[in-house]
Amino acid sequence: MVTQSSSTTHATNGNPPRDTLTITDNRTGKAYELPITDGTLRAMDLRQIRTDAEDFGLMTYDPAFMNTASTRSSITYIDGDKGILRYRGYPIEQLAERSNYLETAYLILFGELPSEAQYKEWEYKIIHHTFLHEKIKMLMQAFRYDARPMGMFISTIAALSTFYPEALQVNDPPTRMKQIVRLIAKVPTIAAFSYRHSRGLPYVYPDNELSYTGNLFRMLDMMTQSKYEPDPVKTRALDILFVLHADHEQNCGTNAMRAIGSSRVDPYSAMAGAAAALYGPLHGGANEEVLKMLKLIGNVKNVPAFIEKVKKGEGRLMGFGHRVYKNYDPRAKIIKHTADQVFHVTGVNPLLEIALELERIALQDEYFVSRKLYPNVDFYSGLIYQAMGFPVSFFPVLFAIPRTAGWLAQWVEMVEDPDQKIARPRQIYTGYGLRNFVPMYARGTDT
Ligand code: CMC
Repeated sequence: MVTQSSSTTHATNGNPPRDTLTITDNRTGKAYELPITDGTLRAMDLRQIRTDAEDFGLMTYDPAFMNTASTRSSITYIDGDKGILRYRGYPIEQLAERSNYLETAYLILFGELPSEAQYKEWEYKIIHHTFLHEKIKMLMQAFRYDARPMGMFISTIAALSTFYPEALQVNDPPTRMKQIVRLIAKVPTIAAFSYRHSRGLPYVYPDNELSYTGNLFRMLDMMTQSKYEPDPVKTRALDILFVLHADHEQNCGTNAMRAIGSSRVDPYSAMAGAAAALYGPLHGGANEEVLKMLKLIGNVKNVPAFIEKVKKGEGRLMGFGHRVYKNYDPRAKIIKHTADQVFHVTGVNPLLEIALELERIALQDEYFVSRKLYPNVDFYSGLIYQAMGFPVSFFPVLFAIPRTAGWLAQWVEMVEDPDQKIARPRQIYTGYGLRNFVPMYARGTDT
């Protein structure tokens, strides 16, 4: 609520400080006292600041949401200056070390760590929804032989809505829950089928005896073995990577999930949009770009020249920088440590040396230091994925699988939030004023 103040004084004049902001509109001389809640002004409170009755009222202009909170959320906490990341209050370091992806997904979705019985029931449900309808398999088979896995993944997620039409009942919690279980259970299968397809290999069906990541490895790698035993180090490492990628508050993909979901469309359609947003090279596609960049650099001795190019504005140092982190991304620290364990099994990725040198130079260089550009989650994850044998085109899919939990938790929070409505930003119109239509014969000719 906005109250109009009679005074324009900014000092507290010895009075106890109030959680308000006084704004004087110099166009009219009027002053307004606006409430501050959680360090935030309500943009709608500005609307009453107008020059006259005809005036629409004051708006904010914030392209790319640089300084706009679009929601209240209790899922993920980030302190970008201190390099802190927590899910539901639990530090990412503790979850990466002591939890697993399915338990973390439960935490993110339901707000609390599960009891043993709750975990068993949750795991059972996920394991028993991993199969895809045979028609989905046929749909995937229709893609070109060289289709990129992420394109197949996005399209197949969207297609799921045609198999589960009841998913449109987004206001019904049990129906929502059903789709959540389906999505978390089926994304590894869709991912694996997309990978096998792009390699021309037959699809491998899920195995209910294996863990979430163990089963994924089997569906990806299984050839002629009578029994597939996933490698425990690789399986655990992928599980840690999944914990690290499970949610990251209001990033581009999650914002897409919420914006699309705000129209009350089914979660499959909304998640296809979120995955599409994730695919971009500035977001989840960055790990693929990091690998391309390291290959292009080719040798440690070329690193200084590459850094100079970046500083001249000829390209970016991919895997560096973040809208929120102005410190070392805590996920990158954990990944660096996990990489050592993976390389112990797989052998060191030869590109690691180049990455380490890039990081060493960038962390000392004034350009990167002054802009607070540090390695982000994507800088080292690609090196692990590559050492595990995955092609770069599959990296964004490996990001999307675990992010499913975050997208769905944020979607539920949005649907249940009485503050939320259909997402619909305003604009500042910069085009022509009124013009009358001119018939083609009267438009003149191009010269
Ligand atoms: N290399 C070189 N310069 C950079 C980089 C980079 N990676 N990132 C930002 N800058 C510079 C940028 O040129 C600008 O400089 P100036 O002030 O002189 O114009 C300044 O730093 C601020 O950059 P910005 O583009 O305004 O920052 P942003 O918050 O809009 O962008 C970002 C964030 C992640 C898109 C950007 O840092 C970037 O493009 N990084 C490379 C891509 C990448 O690694 N993305 C993965 C993000 S983490 C995974 C995820 O959550 O998706």
